[in-house]
Amino acid sequence: MRFIKDFTVDGKIARAVLTLTAHGAYEAQIDGQPVGDHAIAPGWTTYHSRLLSQSFDVTRHLGAGSGHRLGMTVAAGWFGETYGYFGRGSRAYQGPLGVVANLHLSLTDGREIDVPTDGSWFATSRTPILSSGIYNGEAFDARLEIPGWSNHDTQLPELAPATVTQRPQDYVRPETAPPVRRTQYLDAVASTPGPEKGSFILDFGQNIAGRVELRVQGERGTEVTLRHAEVLENGELATRPLRNAAQTDRYILAGTGEEIWEPSFTYHGFRFVEVKGWPDVHPEQGIRAVACGSDLKRTGSWKSSSALLDKFHENVVWSARANFFSIPTDCTQRDERLGWTGDIAAFVDAASYLFDVAGHLSSWLEDLAIGQAAECGNTPLIVPAVLPPFPSPIAGWGDATTIVPWALFENFADTSVLERQFESMRLWVDTVLKYADEDLAWSTGGQIGDHLDPTAPPDRPTEAKAAKEVVASAYLARSLRLVARTAAVLGKRALADEYGDLADRSATSFARHYVSPAGRIMSDSQTAYAMAIAFELAPNTATRKTFGRRLAELVRENGYHVGTGFLGTPFLLGSLLKDGHHYQASRLLNQTENPSWLYPVTMGATSVWERWDSLLPDGSINPGEMVSFNHYAFGSVAHTLYAGVAGLAPAKPGWARISFHPQPLEGLDYVDATVETPYGHAKSGWSREDGKIRVNVTVPPNTSGYLTLPDGSAKVELSAGSHQFVIDAEEKVRPLALDRIRTDLAAIMDDEAAHRTLVEAVGRADEGYHRRLTQHTQWKRNEYISEALMFAPASVTKAIDEAFSEMNSARGL
Ligand code: BGC
Repeated sequence: MRFIKDFTVDGKIARAVLTLTAHGAYEAQIDGQPVGDHAIAPGWTTYHSRLLSQSFDVTRHLGAGSGHRLGMTVAAGWFGETYGYFGRGSRAYQGPLGVVANLHLSLTDGREIDVPTDGSWFATSRTPILSSGIYNGEAFDARLEIPGWSNHDTQLPELAPATVTQRPQDYVRPETAPPVRRTQYLDAVASTPGPEKGSFILDFGQNIAGRVELRVQGERGTEVTLRHAEVLENGELATRPLRNAAQTDRYILAGTGEEIWEPSFTYHGFRFVEVKGWPDVHPEQGIRAVACGSDLKRTGSWKSSSALLDKFHENVVWSARANFFSIPTDCTQRDERLGWTGDIAAFVDAASYLFDVAGHLSSWLEDLAIGQAAECGNTPLIVPAVLPPFPSPIAGWGDATTIVPWALFENFADTSVLERQFESMRLWVDTVLKYADEDLAWSTGGQIGDHLDPTAPPDRPTEAKAAKEVVASAYLARSLRLVARTAAVLGKRALADEYGDLADRSATSFARHYVSPAGRIMSDSQTAYAMAIAFELAPNTATRKTFGRRLAELVRENGYHVGTGFLGTPFLLGSLLKDGHHYQASRLLNQTENPSWLYPVTMGATSVWERWDSLLPDGSINPGEMVSFNHYAFGSVAHTLYAGVAGLAPAKPGWARISFHPQPLEGLDYVDATVETPYGHAKSGWSREDGKIRVNVTVPPNTSGYLTLPDGSAKVELSAGSHQFVIDAEEKVRPLALDRIRTDLAAIMDDEAAHRTLVEAVGRADEGYHRRLTQHTQWKRNEYISEALMFAPASVTKAIDEAFSEMNSARGL
């Protein structure tokens, strides 16, 4: 649709401000000039309750002369999209496309004039946009474009008076979050012939959210088709993971010389683009990728001596750039791209280091509260809520209601967000309490649980090692605690006591229901311990230490592979560090085998994957249903890279006081982290030099800090400025003497070189036993190689004995 308003001004314009929004997505022009640099404005909100407007200074857009035209092109965007699974989508927002605008003119003679949307506007459905949808893409026939369409008096076809509908006054509010913009242009790094004759596949080298821009010259009527995908399979675009999202744009040339086009009202998740119908053989010379996303200010940087970890960190940043797309989305490519609450609950702590997400997320929280109120207290799984509600609350997803506001408060000291969200936070826990038993354990209702842990079969993403009720009860305890803390911050003493008491009771209940007297948590999984440590659910210090030891043991038994899904992953590395299990943390973090944070990096990932193995080790795509290559949840460990490994964390809300606690890990020579706090740059890092550890920290102006030295030896008060400390590195332990019979599996796993020697020796001797050793061994204390390789032929035992004896003598043992 196009809407236009012709008007005349008899006087000199000193200033012109245009405020506008739409049902649908809009682009505006005045007198032939495009207005603003937003993409897919006005962004996505719960449109029938909250529609955001944008304002632009358009003084310079208005041409000389008294006649002017204000024009708006509007397409479906999120407003007209259909939502739902398996192609059974339906529209969530009813009604026709429409616009709301007001041009406010200040004249030099002091007059103030408004040009609002009213019955004097005209509309036409004849535009060059043949079709447009967020998921399916856009088709544009340049032959239908009327040059200068937004110039006063240019004739447009099929113009008719616009229909005026009334809306409540408070329905439109000014936008407070950074808009979606084009944030970077990327050239193709490779162009190869596509499967069809005359087609090409362009590789942009980076998985992004966005679209491409064409510069093309050719005959009138030539049709260029662009299909987008994140990965290739057998030299073709892999489109199965996209489900029903076509991600296809079409451009029909007008044949008027060089034509420049980029779709306006759609975006895609992609690294590869298949181009058909390009007029010559070098599409890479005329096509560049345009990365789009909410234009958030980058605040965190992290560097280390490990190229793989640095690349992982960069991938987390890219996944955040792509998935903070007007709202915090789950993915960028398939027919979802929805505001799944659990994903941002997992990622918000990491996100708050990487970007200034305060405006973006606090705006989204308003939609969360609207959706929650509509579902009688049960926070929707996705916000804005465009899919049918779940009948009962879901732990870890609904808890975004408490987790996100609290994270914004901790990182940005935004008490207003707590004030605004408090009733919603309280309503969430009150709703969950109706599902918990009287002892406050939460074991009823359907749960998603620790989504996509590495043991989840491809077709059953919620089948996890951690018991669903353990996870749900832990989250209830956490949310109760956050509500109590929020009440305290807001000075609501009675409520702080009431919810504090409930939080204490639910922690006690967690221990009674799920923790054995000896300190084992039910379902004995990495997630259960990581969460119990992070949420402080241990009944006493001794049990807390037991949790830490058991977590370290489980991680080792699993061969230093992660064993957590969406809900456990944010806490895994941090909980190991919290209890001083640095060695286990370093092995886990530096692991490159599947499943691990670095495995996708070794497979060429440029973003964070939804599954630990979205791409299987043989290079094929995971056959499961949920296989995106751009989901940020597993990137949540970035929080620990900053707060734990580099040791940089706010000790008071908004970084007014800073805690420095660098934690050097084996396998790394240095780590440096910087966060641009509201006060300036805070830095923390460490490096190894000649048996010493050098610690460097910077405290920004007008703040204070304290440093806990890596060995825990001292706490030092710090004032603003840069500080350096040098301590002795821990002495290396005496190397292990290796013995096939007497050295237990845990000891071998903890001796990286010995473990490698063993695996290689078995691999040389027998493929079947190699698989058995690497895929099925639990690296436990008091269990031995002979048990792990029961009935192994003499060739295997001989190979191990020889390799061990060689290694022992190399170690001088
Ligand atoms: C989304 C997830 C989400 C999940 C919940 C998926 O389809 O992509 O990220 O949290 O559903 O089950």
